Amino acid sequence: MERTWWKEAVVYQIYPRSFNDSNGDGIGDLNGITEKMDYLKKLGIDVIWLSPVYESPNDDNGYDISNYRGIMKDFGTMEDFDRMLAAAHERGIRIVMDLVVNHTSDEHPWFVESRKSKDNPYRDYYIWREGKNGKEPNNWGSCFSGSAWEYDGQTDMYFLHLFSRKQPDLNWDNPKVRDEVFDMMAWWCRKGIDGFRMDVISLISKVPGLPDGEVGKNGYGDYGPYVCNGPHVHEYLQEMNRRVLSRYDLLTVGECSGVTVEEAKKYASLDGKELNMVFQFEHMDLDGGETFKWNERKIKLTELKQVLTKWQTSLAGKAWNSLYWCNHDQPRMLSRMGNDSPEYREVSAKMLATCLHMMQGTPYVYQGEELGMTNVPFRTLEDFRDIESINAYHELVGQGVFDSDTMMRYLRYKSRDNARTPMQWDDSENAGFTEGTPWIMVNPNYTEINAREELGREDSVFYYYQKLIRLRHENPVIVYGDYELLMPEDESLYVYTRTLDKEKLLVICNFTEEIREMELPEEFKGREGSVMISNYGDIRPEEELTLRAYEAVVFKF
Ligand code: GLC
Ligand code: CA
Repeated sequence: MERTWWKEAVVYQIYPRSFNDSNGDGIGDLNGITEKMDYLKKLGIDVIWLSPVYESPNDDNGYDISNYRGIMKDFGTMEDFDRMLAAAHERGIRIVMDLVVNHTSDEHPWFVESRKSKDNPYRDYYIWREGKNGKEPNNWGSCFSGSAWEYDGQTDMYFLHLFSRKQPDLNWDNPKVRDEVFDMMAWWCRKGIDGFRMDVISLISKVPGLPDGEVGKNGYGDYGPYVCNGPHVHEYLQEMNRRVLSRYDLLTVGECSGVTVEEAKKYASLDGKELNMVFQFEHMDLDGGETFKWNERKIKLTELKQVLTKWQTSLAGKAWNSLYWCNHDQPRMLSRMGNDSPEYREVSAKMLATCLHMMQGTPYVYQGEELGMTNVPFRTLEDFRDIESINAYHELVGQGVFDSDTMMRYLRYKSRDNARTPMQWDDSENAGFTEGTPWIMVNPNYTEINAREELGREDSVFYYYQKLIRLRHENPVIVYGDYELLMPEDESLYVYTRTLDKEKLLVICNFTEEIREMELPEEFKGREGSVMISNYGDIRPEEELTLRAYEAVVFKF
């Protein structure tokens, strides 16, 4: 396989609002990121993916953009951005921008024009339809509750918004929209950025006719089958690639809701016609996900192994994987598949990290994951800030689908705000994130879980991530080796191998607190092996292994 930097890189995701506040207004900002560049260098990451920093009225925390070429005032200025970019580049760290072009803000000048009249030059930048018998054009529900259509009295028509009503969907079938988007991308590339993470890019091409979807729990139709991987999505991405991506040296990753392995082979094909890699959601959806996220279900390890193994083996040699447990849209994995009790928090955080970072693909670390940050004990609905969570509460409790207590439990377990509380820098007030009042509560466990404490202790989760990242940089087998799952039926152990030429890694992860005996697989018996990394530190490749609570070990043969 061809060696390229983005296959060998580890990416760190920053959610700027919650990373570091430099001016005491309670909101993280660009200068705050610049201040922490040495921290990131120390962790050893190669790339930063920056969640949106563009001008935005913040209906969805910056995922509703009103000016693609300007910086949100909360976050600073374009000069601050340039300084941050330079500070990253000086340290050999690249910057990948979030590209949100399935939709804009309704305050974007294109939409302000578009809604003015049916013959406005910007009318066809968006998706407008006549109502049907005085109702919405079809039964689609928005991802953030309610209908996916908003009525606009000025022209007596509806516009489509798969997300909030302040996020109207762009009409990608209009070549002018594509020209505008590609020009804007090239503008950022000329500025020297190093790539794009493309927000819900799998949704940009809609099936003509926009047929009704299957009705779900909230009474609305599911748009999934008519917008995910739609009829022209590959054509448009190939055009984007020809006109922009192929002209620069970039890392590109598409957030692809509803992507299958077959589709991923097209989006992320190694022939480089579209993107480098995609974010798939199958492992995240095992406990409800996109079909119905609100529950407290636990993911079964056998199912997790089956899904991740399918992605590892099906893309091998054909396309490239991304690897992630956490991002700004997911609760903390440590509280989901690990164990966030004081006794097992660190060891299970390291176990999860080992399991993911030894796979083939480009790993993504979400801010705070490298500290073992956990879900948050939100008290009441007022503690939440996320539009998805708040709307879902009102819709589902209002309709009597759940009572309030049940829905609050589900929010505490699954809300995106679990990932969005401030980064825990130290044990001073507000976790050292701000000198003002933070825009969202700080997780009270910052007094124990914080960067300063971990940087001062050799066996911390931070230094474990640092080691995993270093090992990946030093061992091509971790990047390029073939993956093979062992013991697929085992409900507590995730065991797999990686093979490159004569080198072989055996990865063993105990996903439970039970002590487990395990026989070394036949092919390794009697062979000379060593420990590459382990979260207990004192295990050896013996014929009979005893694995302790959440133990993880990688043997190299
Ligand atoms: C993506 C983003 C999410 C946002 C949505 C709409 O899924 O990751 O945060 O709410 O798109 O832009
Ligand atoms: Ca600030």
